[in-house]
Amino acid sequence: MKIFVTHKIHESGLKMLKKAGHTVTVYSKDEIIPRAKLLKSVKGCDAVLSLLTDKINDEFFTAAGSKLKIVANFAVGFDNIDLDSAKKHGIIITNTPSEKVNESVAEHTFALMLSLARRIPEADHFAKRGLYKGWSPTLLTGTDMHGKTIGLIGAGRIGSMAARCGVKGFGMKLIYSDLHRNESIEKELGAKKVSQTELLKKADFISLHVPLLPSTRHLISDKEFKLMKPTAYIVNTARGPVIDEKALLRALKTKRIAGAGLDVFECEPAIDCDLRDNMELKSHDNVILTPHIASATEEARQDMSEIAAKNIIAVLKGKKPLTPAK
Ligand code: GLV
Repeated sequence: MKIFVTHKIHESGLKMLKKAGHTVTVYSKDEIIPRAKLLKSVKGCDAVLSLLTDKINDEFFTAAGSKLKIVANFAVGFDNIDLDSAKKHGIIITNTPSEKVNESVAEHTFALMLSLARRIPEADHFAKRGLYKGWSPTLLTGTDMHGKTIGLIGAGRIGSMAARCGVKGFGMKLIYSDLHRNESIEKELGAKKVSQTELLKKADFISLHVPLLPSTRHLISDKEFKLMKPTAYIVNTARGPVIDEKALLRALKTKRIAGAGLDVFECEPAIDCDLRDNMELKSHDNVILTPHIASATEEARQDMSEIAAKNIIAVLKGKKPLTPAK
């Protein structure tokens, strides 16, 4: 059957699809596929392997036509997909959750926390620019992680794994806010469930791990930044619009918080939504920016490639998908 893949991915998944007898076409340029090209390429396909940058909506399903059975999103998140429309068109949607992806995102989350605390990018810059002239008691002092409190907003698998690094490796305390109780981190890591307000007031490192939904858009805005300690750091490896970026910039400018580590941005791929007010993330030394690479390890990306392929193979055989988006 005919499968369109909207970007080059790790070979292992593509090999699985071909081995299963399918005809696989991969968009060959290393760029986000232009919309018109996407709509043209999916026409008549049985399956599409999409990226989180592809908008999968009514227009897409109509362009693909009646043969389409599955869209396998190469991502854990699926806020790029209109699930109601997929349901209406009878299309199965899958994502790529896996232990390896959790590990890789958790490691990146903790790396951002540690880099903020110890000012690693600033120190790297300083050393490389030849500014180091001799040891000094006051040079680039940061903050210890030991004994500090991590606050998870959303205590699912990724957040819990990131927090485990802090609790087990650095003796940190853990609090979380979530709709559901996570008894396993309470037992294993001594985590305490608190209200979001209490978390914002108490945490030294706030880490966001919620999906992007209407209810989580701008979950962190002026009111929330005002509750944080001036020494608090915030890390976002979830989705950009969970933080109101303008409010974050106001908080940074007025030193309401100590810094931010961002892997995702509100107007991605733009780093700043709107520069007319001269407020930009890039101008702050206490902001660390990474270009949405939290799951970018060879291990995780190979796993994602294979999970997406397995979902397509199963559905095209008339079987249930392994990881339906839900
Ligand atoms: C990446 O952001 C993902 O959702 O997998």
